[in-house]
Amino acid sequence: MAVRETWATRIGFILAAVGSAVGLGNVWRFPFLTAESGGAAFLVAYLVLVLLIGLPVMLVEFVVGRRTKHNVVGAFEELGGSNWRLVGGLGAFAGFVILSYYSVVGGWVIQYLIASVTGAYTANPEAYFGSASVGMNAVLFDALFMAFVVGIVALGVRDGIERAAKFMIPGVVLLLIGLAAYGSTLPGADDGYAFYLSPDTSTIVTDAVGLLPDAAGQAFFTLSLGMGVMITYSSYLGEDRNLLSDGLIILVADTSIALLSGLVVFPFLFAMGVDPGDGGPGTVFVSLAGAFAELPAGRVVGAVFFLMLFLAALTSAFSIMEVVVAFVTETFDVDRKPATVGLGVVIFLVGVPTALDLAILDVYDVLANQVLLIGGGLLLAIFGGWVYSAGALEEFTTGMTGGDRLGTAWIWFLRVPVVLVLAFVLYNGFGAT
Ligand code: PHE
Ligand code: NA
Repeated sequence: MAVRETWATRIGFILAAVGSAVGLGNVWRFPFLTAESGGAAFLVAYLVLVLLIGLPVMLVEFVVGRRTKHNVVGAFEELGGSNWRLVGGLGAFAGFVILSYYSVVGGWVIQYLIASVTGAYTANPEAYFGSASVGMNAVLFDALFMAFVVGIVALGVRDGIERAAKFMIPGVVLLLIGLAAYGSTLPGADDGYAFYLSPDTSTIVTDAVGLLPDAAGQAFFTLSLGMGVMITYSSYLGEDRNLLSDGLIILVADTSIALLSGLVVFPFLFAMGVDPGDGGPGTVFVSLAGAFAELPAGRVVGAVFFLMLFLAALTSAFSIMEVVVAFVTETFDVDRKPATVGLGVVIFLVGVPTALDLAILDVYDVLANQVLLIGGGLLLAIFGGWVYSAGALEEFTTGMTGGDRLGTAWIWFLRVPVVLVLAFVLYNGFGAT
């Protein structure tokens, strides 16, 4: 077997991990979920969960990956034996499910990018979404999106993923800042910000419990947790550095970009008096296209927006692909290129039903977020807190000075509160499917 790759630089690792975290979840899901679930109140719940539940689980993934330098299945097997191998397998399975529909939405983004230039959605955004999102177009552009993913990931960790993230992620940030600045100049921007962030006091209390599962699901999805992305990426760390500070950087970057996305999306919609809709998979595309159709220089702004979204979605898709590619190449001793192409085809086929029926896409999305990622997170918390805690603690403090007390607090945090919250959320998730 070929020698295992490592990241070329620390910033390369961080950008790749931020690239994984920053994706459709930030731009497509977060602003609408926030607006829909009580604005500022939801935001507070979400931030608390990201910090208190997301960060501890991310650190378990880092510790497991860096310790073993294996793919998700091999890593769990080495540290936990053959039963835990199954947990790794669950992560790889989640990768198949998530990438199969994530790439369908990625295909929508490519179509909207082209349509912004040609003006194809201007006349009737509703009808355009219908023809782009389901059926032949959806299938073809899903395949095209997967071709980009396969093309980059086949090049390898350094020459493919790391190199791409190094220019794509700064690109995403610059484009978003530009879009937010433009949005702030629009009439109605203030109404947009208010809709986004004002708490709806009439529903805060009744929504309090209902808020938790959504906020936790979003926290996991947005940070790419619970399926082994961070295990796989940290398995390519060549040197020992402070995992806590790397984790915090990734978390702050992802959260800032999610917040910024809301500052982009809502002024656009409110400036044009477009109804933000109910946040379902289609409404974001329909309502934004409606706004771009009317805005001054709307086509250019639309093209910039969808280009930004395309880059963000790609870097996330790379990371999901890498989980399964690492697993397959290291388990069956196949080369990276044929493995990536073969897996790309399989994942595309798994996703075809979601390109033919939006209701099926929704089922995949709920299954992934509320069951697979949360279930994976619960198992990771049990593993780090109870099963492998001594080793986890040792690995956690490697590369930082001191850190014993912090590490012990982390383990206790995993043991009780994280496990309880995730078990509650998972229980709720089963109710939803
Ligand atoms: N974090 C990505 C986003 O916010 C989605 C993702 C989930 C990526 C799980 C990898 C694994 O869009
Ligand atoms: Na994200």
